Amino acid sequence: MTRGYRVLQRVPLRSSNTFGIDACAPRLVEVDEADALPGLLAAGLLGDASAPAMVLGGGSNLLFARDPECTLLRLCGARIDIIDDRDPAHVVVRAEAGVDWHALVMWSLAQGLGGLENLALIPGTVGAAPIQNIGAYGVEVGERIVAVEAFDRDRGVRVRLDHVACAFAYRDSRFKRTPDREIVTAVEFALSRHSAPRLGYAGLGEELAAMGIVMPSPADVGEAVIRLRRRKLPDPARIGNAGSFFKNPLVPTAQAQALVAEHPDLPLYPAGDPGRRKLSAAWLIEACGWKGHRDGDAGVAAGHALVLVNHGSASGRQLLDLAVRIRDSVHARFGVALEPEPRIVGASWPA
Ligand code: EPU
Repeated sequence: MTRGYRVLQRVPLRSSNTFGIDACAPRLVEVDEADALPGLLAAGLLGDASAPAMVLGGGSNLLFARDPECTLLRLCGARIDIIDDRDPAHVVVRAEAGVDWHALVMWSLAQGLGGLENLALIPGTVGAAPIQNIGAYGVEVGERIVAVEAFDRDRGVRVRLDHVACAFAYRDSRFKRTPDREIVTAVEFALSRHSAPRLGYAGLGEELAAMGIVMPSPADVGEAVIRLRRRKLPDPARIGNAGSFFKNPLVPTAQAQALVAEHPDLPLYPAGDPGRRKLSAAWLIEACGWKGHRDGDAGVAAGHALVLVNHGSASGRQLLDLAVRIRDSVHARFGVALEPEPRIVGASWPA
């Protein structure tokens, strides 16, 4: 009889993190079925409070500053099912945590379902998507999420957390705030049968116009997003990176206005809160001269100042040191504190 999981020892992680960092896991547990999690907890394989096991998704939002000391978990379940099609406007789709994110987007578009198209080509897994509330081109995944299924390791039970309980915010959710509590096992999405394209984000309408499309379907929007991303962001299969390394900072409105008075071309975005504005971190970093900068194999992408890159054999520590220098220079020049987007393993972000 299968236990529903496999335990691997001393596992090289270079191909399991999109930065391509040469780390090694002491132990990796591959979990086929969420039903195996209570048994793993009982067997001590989910770690303990001092060293909880960490879920490895697509490794696209992680920086290994050194080898992890805890056990890593990989959720392998990869089913996609329509679980409710009674509503004339929406269907509810349930995808297991191990589904590749972009594969889910392409599956939904092949079914003629809209809602995820602006999030095409984001690296990672479905299970990781709600954790940092992935977002791109004017859409955040939390807007489409009905519920997240998870294993609550404090209580040893499976739970279903509805949209409100997930507490989504910009690049944030309850799962990011308490990363070691719930293990996401599946996500339920409300997807639209009718096209309602979200084209407000700069560049998207222009890309569709360049494709000669006037009334875009969700698949057309997905294709435009893919073209934009391919042009602007380095492909992790060719050059190690974790997408945006910094979050766009949210600052008090008065501070944002003072900065824009001095730097009229600094992009400002609403922050979903009248007292604050979101600034473009890429603009701030580029203004400090970092775009295309390189220290050995650790660098800043030539095409996008928000993306740190590993040109070959940079260590996580070298990338972290570069990130801290960028943070310090932006703070010294603009008085704005940048925060990292990826989870840093084996080091803390210095104050
Ligand atoms: N800009 C610069 N220099 C650069 C790049 C951009 O000054 O090198 C300025 C330009 O003014 C540009 C503006 O920044 O118009 C916005 O750039 P972009 O559209 O690339 O968006 P972003 O704010 O830099 C965010 C997300 C990306 C997402 C894009 C598109 C964050 C931290 N990043 O980047 O998400 O793809 O919007 O929606 O919110 C990721 O999270 O990993 C990621 C790639």
